[in-house]
Amino acid sequence: MQKLIIKGKKSLTGTVKISGSKNATLPILASTILSNNKITIKNVPFVKDVITMSELLKYLGSDIKLNFKKKKIFINNNKKSFKTLAPYNFVKTMRAGIIVLGPLLSKFGKARVSLPGGCAIGTRPVDIHLFGLKKLGAKIKIKDGYIHAEATNGLFGNKIKLPSISVGATENLIIAATYAYGTTLIKNCACEPEIKDLINFLKKMGANIKWTGKREIKVIGTQNFNAVNYSVMFDRIEAGTFIIAGALVGKKIKITNIDTNILKKELDILKKMGLKFKTQKNKIIIFYSKNIKPVSIKTEAYPGFPTDLQAQIMVLMTKANGVSKIKENIFENRFMHVPELNRMGAKIKVSGNLSTINFSEELNGAEVMATDLRASVSLVLAGLIAKNRTIINRVYHLDRGYENLEKKLRNCGAKITRVNN
Ligand code: EPZ
Repeated sequence: MQKLIIKGKKSLTGTVKISGSKNATLPILASTILSNNKITIKNVPFVKDVITMSELLKYLGSDIKLNFKKKKIFINNNKKSFKTLAPYNFVKTMRAGIIVLGPLLSKFGKARVSLPGGCAIGTRPVDIHLFGLKKLGAKIKIKDGYIHAEATNGLFGNKIKLPSISVGATENLIIAATYAYGTTLIKNCACEPEIKDLINFLKKMGANIKWTGKREIKVIGTQNFNAVNYSVMFDRIEAGTFIIAGALVGKKIKITNIDTNILKKELDILKKMGLKFKTQKNKIIIFYSKNIKPVSIKTEAYPGFPTDLQAQIMVLMTKANGVSKIKENIFENRFMHVPELNRMGAKIKVSGNLSTINFSEELNGAEVMATDLRASVSLVLAGLIAKNRTIINRVYHLDRGYENLEKKLRNCGAKITRVNN
């Protein structure tokens, strides 16, 4: 396994170009199963999860080619016969593999997809996905750790009111409804920007989808799709991560290839914390911020504060002059970074889904363990501000969702290297 070694307290100056969004690319890739036409996807972040999803599509029968240098993926499923089995070895590390269930079932009338199982941040059930697919006519049973789904004559449009907000379930159902016969109305949808990106992609492919309310989508199914050439949106979580890094150790960092309108909630919170930054439509210049103010936040579905930025803002809160609080409302176990941060001298208390973060004068470098994707990047942020050396083990978690993180940081002056242990 590899680890990262960071020599802290180096101030950073430079420009960071944000990569494409992992969480938009994954559902877009899954939805390509529907089409027999040519597809080009641009601005692709070549992170581990995107590679895994591409390998899953290839296993299923997709004619998929990755161009790492140009950050493009080419797909042409014409005349390819597809398997309808998504095995455990793909889905166990990349939970988004469950999103091939909707397209496989809708297009081929059957699918066998491994239950994703839990992960460090929670049990990650898929009951809402299955609830919605049953509403579209699927027969579903769970056996030997797999979802066995059938819809011999295909799926048929229906009215679906989701019991609670789920990004993945919304995506699975939009894709399934895109190929279903008739009209589907999905209520209580998630409305994350990545879902809007998926819808833009599908509409460009020829799908008939429109928002009929803040959390309501209407889909009129079709089975014919045009060739499509699409550029994925920017990764708003990577952007938020670098804005926080800039506030912590930047002298001045320019962050480009973003859309600041999508970062409204995050920027409001960071402004309340007293961060110094200048924004233009597709870039932000963030300055080192001395007097950081404490805040209390809660994680919510979009447009609320994103749970995927919770671990990162927690590091910023350790430098705030006072007591900050974070209520984690989305996942049941998403404070795994706290014990590791406390080993570096942070003063954070956790009680249930509430964490209380006190000011800590100085963090000290230590050997720490990454537990999940966003926890691992919070340890990188802590290492950047800590005295001496921080060693972060199990960086494979980081590689699932951050493209060239060390290179981007090194280009701004960070002392960060990767070693095999
Ligand atoms: C997506 O996960 C993201 N992953 C997550 O990002 C993100 O944290 C999450 O949405 C919330 O924004 C991708 O887009 C690939 P959910 P997803 O379904 O779809 C419960 C990252 O770091 N739930 O919105 O799995 C679930 O347990 C990752 O990039 C059910 O109970 O999230 C959770 O408590 C981590 N039943 C809540 O809903 C279901 O059927 C929200 O989950 C589905 C979900």
